Parts: sequence; structure tokens; C-alpha cells
Amino acid sequence: MTYQSEIHSVDLDPYIDGRRRKIGGKTFPTYDPASGTVLHEVPVADTAVVDEAVEAAARALKGGWAAVTPAERSRMLFRVAQEIRNDAERLSIVESLDAGKPLREAKGDIETSARYFEYYAGIADKMQGDTIPLGPDFISFTLHEPIGATAHIIPWNFPLVTTARGLAPALAAGATAVIKPAEQTPLTALMLPEYLERAGVPAGVVNVICGPGAVTGAPLVAHGKIAHVTFTGSVATGKAVLASAASHVASTTMELGGKSPVVVLADANMDAALDGVMKAIFTNAGQVCSAGSRLVIERSCADAFLDRLVARIKTLGFGRGLDNPDIGPVVSHQQLLKIEGIVTASVAAGAQLLVGGSVAHPEGLGGWFFEPTVLLASDPATLAVQEEIFGPVLTVQIADDFDHACALAECTDFGLVAGIYTSDISKALRFARIASGGQIFINQYFAGGVETPFGGVKNSGFGREKGLEGLKSYYTVKTVTARI
Ligand code: NAI
Ligand code: MG
Repeated sequence: MTYQSEIHSVDLDPYIDGRRRKIGGKTFPTYDPASGTVLHEVPVADTAVVDEAVEAAARALKGGWAAVTPAERSRMLFRVAQEIRNDAERLSIVESLDAGKPLREAKGDIETSARYFEYYAGIADKMQGDTIPLGPDFISFTLHEPIGATAHIIPWNFPLVTTARGLAPALAAGATAVIKPAEQTPLTALMLPEYLERAGVPAGVVNVICGPGAVTGAPLVAHGKIAHVTFTGSVATGKAVLASAASHVASTTMELGGKSPVVVLADANMDAALDGVMKAIFTNAGQVCSAGSRLVIERSCADAFLDRLVARIKTLGFGRGLDNPDIGPVVSHQQLLKIEGIVTASVAAGAQLLVGGSVAHPEGLGGWFFEPTVLLASDPATLAVQEEIFGPVLTVQIADDFDHACALAECTDFGLVAGIYTSDISKALRFARIASGGQIFINQYFAGGVETPFGGVKNSGFGREKGLEGLKSYYTVKTVTARI
């Protein structure tokens, strides 16, 4: 099946102030990564269109959205969740085709997107402030006020789910939004207005504009009426976005990826650890900010574990996302070249290839595939150990004991996630204290959900998304104090 009807059903025009804006002009292609063919040419929003979108969001903040009571806002967000679930089949197919990810993962993403709206719907009418005791002559209390018009710069690895992760709490807090999806995967964000409209979200509250980062993202972030920028992407672009936001004193949430270790100690349940390590690096072909991309394993169990790991990897098959393969394509030719470059340089510098290592050309598929790869790297300075690869490439570092494992886990400038497999609860919890990261996974990689705060330290960024913490980016606290 080609799923032409699903692809052709997507309205590609930017969504501004409750309407599709026919902008004409330049377009950019979005590809099917499995075949390398163009799915759609999407109109590019230039600076003037960006300005229209931000102005619409700024107007809606004081207008249509401010007039909606928190209880009604909550009901609307519940309805958005329902509308997404009602259209989950079509959304999953489009997401799988546009991003290349296995359909089962796309389905999971769509359900999680609905869940974000549901989760934050539940808090929209409960965001109350405090009263502060100052003695008999004062009354003091806090007001939670929406932060303003917010910009959301979205990456290509989890297109709709990252959009929902920032948008749902922003709306719950009474803020408005301009969404800029990644140029590789704009389609599901362009579908979102369908659900928002059916749920009754007023015009201008959410605006969706597409285009390359430099053309569309940069003027959005630089716009003086943007009060907060939620960014997920690379460290380099994150730094540019930070500088731009600083020029007009906008606050930011920075989710900049990672190089997260999965520590396996000799006392671990090895079956669970093996499943966990596989999932940590091969979900979405390794294109996951929180991927467990570094296995740090205790020497006494390393040989047996690595034998089993390599044997498992040799059974993995490629395919296009819609056919639910073990491993799908990576998102772009550029990404494929980046992965190949880091692997080649690391092998040249002495890393030992245990399996994989090359670009793959699965039969009948003309797209961008990379072999699932394991690199044994005794030198922590190896490029593949230090650089976020965003591909199906696992590095292995051998540790003499627990303390050495902790030191190796800490050998990069990133700090998003750290995972550990062990049956010793004291070691697990000591690791949780020692390891840098916004989240620690014990005996299950990717443990948690929309309820659990998520974010980074060090080069992985700052600010927390998900959970109740995720709301804090989207409101300010105003203290009112009266002498009585
Ligand atoms: P990127 O950081 O350049 O792109 C992410 C988003 O930022 C896209 O929507 C892009 O259009 C936008 N953008 C780019 N330049 C911008 C600018 N000057 N102002 C505002 N927005 C801008 O990342 P890219 O090039 O797609 O991927 C490169 C690497 O970044 C990947 O290989 C991976 O290592 C990392 N990455 C990390 C992600 C994460 O989850 N933390 C997600 C995507 C990429
Ligand atoms: Mg695409």
C-alpha cells in the first residue's frame, strides 16, 4: 500500500489566526526516508509570515484565550486528546511515512501525544497560587499568569509527541503558541489544527508555520513578542537560539540531546539488561535524545553479554516504517552521512567494530539506512563516545568495578539520562546520586512517562518538560501584597 490518500489529506498551508494562509512563494521538500522520495513540497514561512503568526498568538493571549475559563480550557484540552485518538490511525501512518519510524512506534507516539493533552487538561483548572503569611497587617497572595506567546521549535525524531509535550502545558497555563516543526517532518504538526478546531480552541491560540531553521525558526525565536522559547535539537542550534532569545529577554527551555550511559553490573538480571540495552539504542534507529548510546559494562560479565548482544543484533531486519521493521531508515541523507562519518573516524582512531559499521542498502529500498553497530571503545576520548550520533550505533566501555563504571558513565559533557542494571539497590541509588542527568533509569531503560519530569544538565540543556514541572515554563508568578 502507498497510503497516498493519507499523505494527500494533509493541508500544507501555514495555520495562522484560525485559518490556512495561502502564502505561495518558496517551498521545501519533505521526504519519505525509506525510499528517499519527496512526499510533499511545503510552503516556507518567511519573516513576514512569522510576524503574522506571532501577532496572532499575542492577540489571542489577551483576547480569545483569556476569555476562556480554566474549566472550559480543561474541557477543550480533553477534547483535543480525544480528537487525536479518533484520528490515530491516519496520524500514525503519516508520522511513520514522514519520519521513517516503525509504525508501532508511530502509534505509540500518537497515543503519547493524546496523553499529554489529557494529562495537562487535568491541571488547567487547578493551577492556583499561594497565600503568604505576613502577620495581621498584610494580605499577600500569588497569581499564576500565562507567560505570553510561546515559540516551539520542534525536532524531527519525535515530531508530534515533542509538539504535544510543549504545547499541552502551554495551553493549560493559558499561554498561546507558534509551532515550527522540523523541515524533515512537518506533516503531523500541520494536521494538529484539525483537532484543535474541532475541540473549540479559539483562533490564534495555536499557529503552525513551516520552513528551514535559518529562514523560519530564526525570525520566530528573535521576535520581540515571543516570551518563551521551547527548543529541542542540537547543542549548536540551541546555543544560537539562546543568544537570540537573550536579545529580547525571553525565557527558554533547552532540550539538547545526550550521550546517555547504560551501566550493566555483573549482578544484574542479564536478560532484562539485554532487552533494555537493545531498546535503548535501536528504538527509532537510535534517533532518540534519551537513547542509551553508551554501554558501560563490568568486565566480569562483558564477554558473555557482548556475545549475546551481537547475536541478537545479527537477527535484526531493515524495512520501511510502515512494514514495522526492527530497524527503519534514518531521517535524512545528511543524518546518514553524519553517522557514517563518526563511525569511520572512531574506527580509524582505534575503536573496534563488533558488528555493523556501514551504510546499508536493503533490497528494494532506496532510502537512508545504517547497519546496527557496536563499537568497543577503550579510550573515552573516542569521537563515538563523546558525540551525539543519533543513529543505531552503540559504544561499549568496559569497567573494572562499580566505581570505575560510575567514572566512565560521567566521561562526557552531556547529562540527559543515565541508566543502570543491577540487583544491588544500594549501588543503584548511589549511582542515581553520582550520575549527571535529568533522569535516572534503574532496571528499565525509558522508565517513566508523561508524568515524569524530563530534561538535562550540562550540555543536555536546562528546564524541565513533562509532569507538573513542565508547567512551570508557561506561567509567571505575580505576588500581590496589601497593607490592610
Ligand atoms: P537542529 O538543532 O538544527 O534542528 C532542530 C530544530 O531547530 C529544527 O526545527 C530546525 O529547523 C530548527 N532550527 C535550526 N536552526 C535554527 C535557528 N537558527 N533558529 C531557530 N530554529 C532553528 O538539528 P538537526 O540539524 O536537525 O540535527 C542535527 C543533530 O542534532 C542530530 O544529529 C542530533 O544529534 C541532534 N538532535 C537532537 C535532538 C534532541 O532530541 N535533543 C533532536 C534533533 C536533533
Ligand atoms: Mg519527511
